Amino acid sequence: MWGGRFAEGPSAIMREINASIPFDKALWREDIRGSKAHIAMLAAQGIVSDEEAQSIDRGLDAIVAEYESDGVPEDWSLEDIHMTVEARLTELIGPVAGKLHTARSRNDQVATDFRLWTLAAMEQVEAGLAALQRALVTRAGEHAVTIMPGFTHLQAAQPVTLGHHLMAYYEMFRRDASRFADARKRADECPLGSAALAGTGFAIDREATASALGFACPTSNSLDAVSDRDFALDYLSAASACALHLSRIAEEIIVWASQPFAFIRLPDTLSTGSSIMPQKKNPDAAELVRGHAGRIIGAATALMVTMKGLPLAYSKDMQDDKPPVFEAHGLLQLCLAAMEAMIAESTFNEARMREVAGAGHPTATDLADWLVREHGVPFREAHHVAGAAVKAADDHGCDIADLPLDVLQAIDSRIDESVRDLLTLDASVAARTSYGGTAPVRVQEQVEAARKALGMG
Ligand code: ARG
Repeated sequence: MWGGRFAEGPSAIMREINASIPFDKALWREDIRGSKAHIAMLAAQGIVSDEEAQSIDRGLDAIVAEYESDGVPEDWSLEDIHMTVEARLTELIGPVAGKLHTARSRNDQVATDFRLWTLAAMEQVEAGLAALQRALVTRAGEHAVTIMPGFTHLQAAQPVTLGHHLMAYYEMFRRDASRFADARKRADECPLGSAALAGTGFAIDREATASALGFACPTSNSLDAVSDRDFALDYLSAASACALHLSRIAEEIIVWASQPFAFIRLPDTLSTGSSIMPQKKNPDAAELVRGHAGRIIGAATALMVTMKGLPLAYSKDMQDDKPPVFEAHGLLQLCLAAMEAMIAESTFNEARMREVAGAGHPTATDLADWLVREHGVPFREAHHVAGAAVKAADDHGCDIADLPLDVLQAIDSRIDESVRDLLTLDASVAARTSYGGTAPVRVQEQVEAARKALGMG
């Protein structure tokens, strides 16, 4: 394709290091779509004849049929998907195929193909995120009143509802979806027609190709357009944030499924056994979600480091943009689907969660709050009183709610029997009615709003 000024062809090692066809063949549909839009525009502008354009368009259709049935051939000497398609087109229709590359370079071609691919990938992730959010919201609705321990420092803090806990992840994945939607808006500009770097002297119509390919508009600067991979970096940084959230919920599932916690039972279909220990049932899917998050974040780092030292415009380093994005996307979709299944199909052990929620005086704050509310005690002083009650309860080997009244009154004479009702787990969560709080009425409201936002009727 470019041999005119060379006396010798590339060596075997040159061909090997140069070849991107092993991975960029994944772009074949986008590549042919771009070529069809380009040739139609060249004909409409009178740059090629209608007959030439028709012959090229039909040839491209024939290649689509071939690739659909037999896959894309992988010939390293053809370097990449763009040359592979063009070489096949030449075989099929002869030298007129060479007119397709008028007013175009592989630099704007690959930038266009990869953008189209990444835009579709972002939509796929948004669909996967919506499915996961629906699973979370469904389970949260079932467990709006289920008590579980809330932790800080992984120490018992205050009781919360399981619905509230699951809805916390709904919020994270909602933000992730908005990051992908936002990235799509920014990526919605078409590089085609930027040519190698400087634009072209042919009277092309960039608006026409942009709209034929479904972009909002053409890019504004040809140098930027051929050397910009922000759309891929945006994909990877949104994917990293999402992977980070998936990894956190995976970590919770792993902890919850462990015997000392026993909060959750994963279905057999989403667990594995041990080849030596017959009793084992391991949360491998959750562990691999946590593990894959590392690879996704690694992909984001890889592309940032690849891009950070490149002068304008295109450099061949940029060919390395695709493997990290392709890998991250495959992993992310897998992780979203696996997490959706784990959330939808796990069984929560409500009795165990309630039992653990009751340990460690988690309603001590409620005692302090009562003193503040009923007796106008400054919170700092009330905190001290409740702390003394905790100490007394530990000495008695009971919960603060079960301390004899005389012991409580010896700590603070203002305490009376009525406080006991407030120190139960149910009373504690029911009291937290502030907006966004854990009270079942609040959680139910959030679940309803989320169901509406997700179109769950
Ligand atoms: N295979 C190349 C890539 O993926 C296509 C662009 C090649 N451009 C060039 N000037 N060699 O980046």
